[in-house]
Amino acid sequence: MDKCRALIFAIVAVNGATVTISQPPTQVVKRGSSCTPVAGHSSSIDDAPAIQSAIASCPSGTIVIPKSTTYYINTAFSFVGCSGCTLQIEGTLQATSNTTYWGGRRAIFLMDGINGATVYSATGTGIVDGNGQAAWDLFAANSSYQRPTLFYINNSKNVKLSNLYFKSAPNVFHSVTGGSSNVSYSNISLYAVSSSANVAHNTDGWDIGQSTYVTIDGATVTNDDDCVALKPGCSFATVTNISCTGSHGISVGSLGSGVNSKDTVQNCLISGATMINSAKAAGLKLYPGPPDHGTAVVSNVTFENFILQNTDYAFQVQSCYGEDSSYCETNPSTAQIAGVVVRNFSGTTSTHYSPNIANIDCPAAGTCGLTLSNITVTPPKGSAVIQCANTPSNLGVPCASGASG
Ligand SMILES: *[C@@H]1O[C@H](CO)[C@@H](O)[C@H](O)[C@H]1NC(C)=O
Ligand SMILES: *[C@@H]1O[C@H](CO)[C@@H](O)[C@H](O)[C@H]1NC(C)=O
Ligand SMILES: *[C@@H]1O[C@H](CO)[C@@H](O)[C@H](O)[C@H]1NC(C)=O
Ligand SMILES: *[C@@H]1O[C@H](CO)[C@@H](O)[C@H](O)[C@H]1NC(C)=O
Ligand SMILES: *[C@@H]1O[C@H](CO)[C@@H](O)[C@H](O)[C@H]1NC(C)=O
Ligand SMILES: *[C@@H]1O[C@H](CO)[C@@H](O)[C@H](O)[C@H]1NC(C)=O
Ligand SMILES: *[C@@H]1O[C@H](CO)[C@@H](O)[C@H](O)[C@H]1NC(C)=O
Ligand SMILES: *[C@@H]1O[C@H](CO)[C@@H](O)[C@H](O)[C@H]1NC(C)=O
Ligand SMILES: *[C@@H]1O[C@H](CO)[C@@H](O)[C@H](O)[C@H]1NC(C)=O
Repeated sequence: MDKCRALIFAIVAVNGATVTISQPPTQVVKRGSSCTPVAGHSSSIDDAPAIQSAIASCPSGTIVIPKSTTYYINTAFSFVGCSGCTLQIEGTLQATSNTTYWGGRRAIFLMDGINGATVYSATGTGIVDGNGQAAWDLFAANSSYQRPTLFYINNSKNVKLSNLYFKSAPNVFHSVTGGSSNVSYSNISLYAVSSSANVAHNTDGWDIGQSTYVTIDGATVTNDDDCVALKPGCSFATVTNISCTGSHGISVGSLGSGVNSKDTVQNCLISGATMINSAKAAGLKLYPGPPDHGTAVVSNVTFENFILQNTDYAFQVQSCYGEDSSYCETNPSTAQIAGVVVRNFSGTTSTHYSPNIANIDCPAAGTCGLTLSNITVTPPKGSAVIQCANTPSNLGVPCASGASG
């Protein structure tokens, strides 16, 4: 029985109108247990329906995007129907740059409620291109314009992505949330660099929200926001062997933004990171307290084995995130920090805050269970200064007053 026999539809825009053409089943070429959707070979032909139909008709089979072939993703792509499917990308999946279409949409690629999926490249040639330049340019002109996340995993489990190159996300590259579990990313490159004067704003590498057991191992990221952000509800996330260039660093947060919120990040490990030309290597971003914001719990989070090159801060705790100092003086953060460990950071900071290498502003009305050890980071000139405020007596390193933010 031909598992991959599918009725495929292609949607073709003709003179601005959209017509739906029923394609013969030969739109999927089956070889052994794998299926190759036939590409439209034109950016005006949407290949998303053909690939989705192949997944739906091959729920646990392998769908191949062949080498040297571009498939155009002109409409939001869903993995619905996948149940242990494999999407093997050797060619390119390229999203349309149509900002009218993507405006206000959640994601370009969405996995929602999926149990078991693999997306990978065997040869390492697979590319997922978010084609975000037009979106960055439009957002620079109109900050109300809402851009999609490139690859969004929601309420899914047992998902693996490996050996892929993701480029030009219009907004965040990867989000994992909605109670997802067992999601692994290995050997992944992310690259978002604008070719215009408008930078690639908000191109977070990973936003890991409500989830357990998300792992990132072996990643190279060049972007213009957090390299990895551990967001509310993240637990048991592990990030190993990552290199981040030009980013805002590896962050917990932001947390406690909403009125009455109680955001938690716990039991996470970041081990082995090279941070190049970044705003910080690692840090916590905490909103101040009520009435306009909530509170946060950060517990058992370790940042270890970081190497810095020309990065502004090695470590930063912000407990006045998103507000000015007058709000924070009256309504300080009530966040509870426990078991946060920062150890074995080496390399050099940039001239930006030199000779300050860290700025640790702990919650004035909360707790700050934080220790630093083996911090050998040096500023370009003079000897390193760690600035602090409201830090515990057993912080582990000498520090000078004056932290804020
Ligand atoms: C862009 O998307 C809009 C909304 O879906 C659509 O009406 C328009 O035809 C698209 N433009 C092109 C060039 O495909
Ligand atoms: C900005 O973008 C928003 C959301 O897409 C839209 O409603 C609004 O009309 C745009 N404003 C301008 C001046 O184009
Ligand atoms: C990692 O992925 C790249 C492509 O992004 C590929 O060239 C390389 O072979 C992969 N490495 C391993 C160990 O699979
Ligand atoms: C994510 O999953 C939650 C819970 O199942 C659901 O309410 C939400 O609509 C989903 N979001 C997306 C973008 O699929
Ligand atoms: C996650 O993976 C572990 C080990 O492979 C497995 O025991 C567990 O059942 C998985 N969790 C879910 C929610 O599938
Ligand atoms: C670290 O990740 C890079 C990029 O994915 C990879 O080339 C390298 O082999 C990894 N190193 C280790 C020790 O895993
Ligand atoms: C602390 O977090 C680490 C890293 O995820 C985890 O291995 C360990 O089990 C956690 N400890 C507790 C007591 O949960
Ligand atoms: C310190 O971090 C560096 C860089 O990641 C690593 O090579 C080294 O093994 C670490 N040292 C210890 C004692 O863990
Ligand atoms: C600190 O560095 C020393 C010497 O490099 C090493 O023996 C020790 O294990 C390190 N401690 C931590 C907590 O990384």
